[in-house]
Amino acid sequence: MFAVYAESFSSDDPLSGLVLGERPEPEVPDGWTTVTVKAASLNHHDLWSLRGVGLREEALPMILGCDAAGIDEDGNEVVVHAVISEPSWKGDETLDPKRSLLSEKHQGTLADRVAVPRRNVVPKPASLSFEEAACLPTAWLTAYRMLFTQGGLKAGDTVLVQGAGGGVATAAITLARAAGLKVLATSRDEAKRARALEIGAHEVFESGARLPVKVDGVIETVGRATWSHSIRSLRPGGVLVVSGTTSGPKLDDAELTRIFFLQLRVVGSTMGTRSELASLVSMLDASGARPLVDRTLPLEQARDGFAAMAQGELFGKIVFTR
Ligand SMILES: NC(=O)c1ccc[n+]([C@@H]2O[C@H](COP(=O)([O-])OP(=O)(O)OC[C@H]3O[C@@H](n4cnc5c(N)ncnc54)[C@H](OP(=O)(O)O)[C@@H]3O)[C@@H](O)[C@H]2O)c1
Repeated sequence: MFAVYAESFSSDDPLSGLVLGERPEPEVPDGWTTVTVKAASLNHHDLWSLRGVGLREEALPMILGCDAAGIDEDGNEVVVHAVISEPSWKGDETLDPKRSLLSEKHQGTLADRVAVPRRNVVPKPASLSFEEAACLPTAWLTAYRMLFTQGGLKAGDTVLVQGAGGGVATAAITLARAAGLKVLATSRDEAKRARALEIGAHEVFESGARLPVKVDGVIETVGRATWSHSIRSLRPGGVLVVSGTTSGPKLDDAELTRIFFLQLRVVGSTMGTRSELASLVSMLDASGARPLVDRTLPLEQARDGFAAMAQGELFGKIVFTR
């Protein structure tokens, strides 16, 4: 079958190890099913894999891709949940120490077909296109869990989303707006601030700008560059939810004094559960909110999508179709 895969690693030139070509049909263990991929979306995770981060050399060649929507063996339209836990694991699969994401241990979604555990498929409502549904399992699920599970944020609360151009950040803006929150967003870039307003932010600010109000929660994926501003923007008792460190994980000042004195909560978050993915899908079905797609390309042109992501030339998701 046709697939987009990593053949080797390079930290300086990740696209040098990217190959488009034929790979064997997926192996389907007991309890697993095969999904025929109709659309798959790209994540930074795929670029990291080509740099050799999170993927072992022995696992190569590895088909890339965490996110997909397609048709299962029974003809149902489904969304694929990317978090694979051990078969014996019970409960929240993001807490399984042996969990992996598709394309880390098991072959990924940028292919004609992908095998996943039966419990990892979620029904796709007819109201969502395959392209829209393929955006959800990584960036959108991460944003959903950050806002509503780990952050406990609800209608009427005010949330600050840092770094408005990122995949998680754009998802958080749209989801927070759809859920009735007041949404503030920051970006270094004027054009991205304008786009953030279009997708649901009530107010936008330059990165680091003083906000007119203190917020109930912050969605933090930028890390070092925005951490101090995030902590300083919270009301007493507010919550900072962190799931990424695009500008680096090391902090000049962790703002510990503010954290204890204002009784702030700092909560980590990673991906989400199958049940949260099902709730996210239902939320989009009911609210009409939709993922922002930067561009849709045939899978045969995947290299162009990877190059755009490597150069940061995108706002929203890059989707590949079959
Ligand atoms: N834990 C999980 O489950 C999970 C899931 C998905 C992603 N992630 C992680 O979350 C992070 C975000 O990923 P993403 O794909 O959503 O977005 P991204 O493209 O990595 O970038 C997010 C934003 O960071 C901002 N940024 C970068 N460098 C900055 C700097 N020096 N100063 C200020 N802002 C800066 C940019 O905002 P502006 O240009 O608008 O200022 C950019 O739009 C990544 O580290 C990713 O690995 C984690």
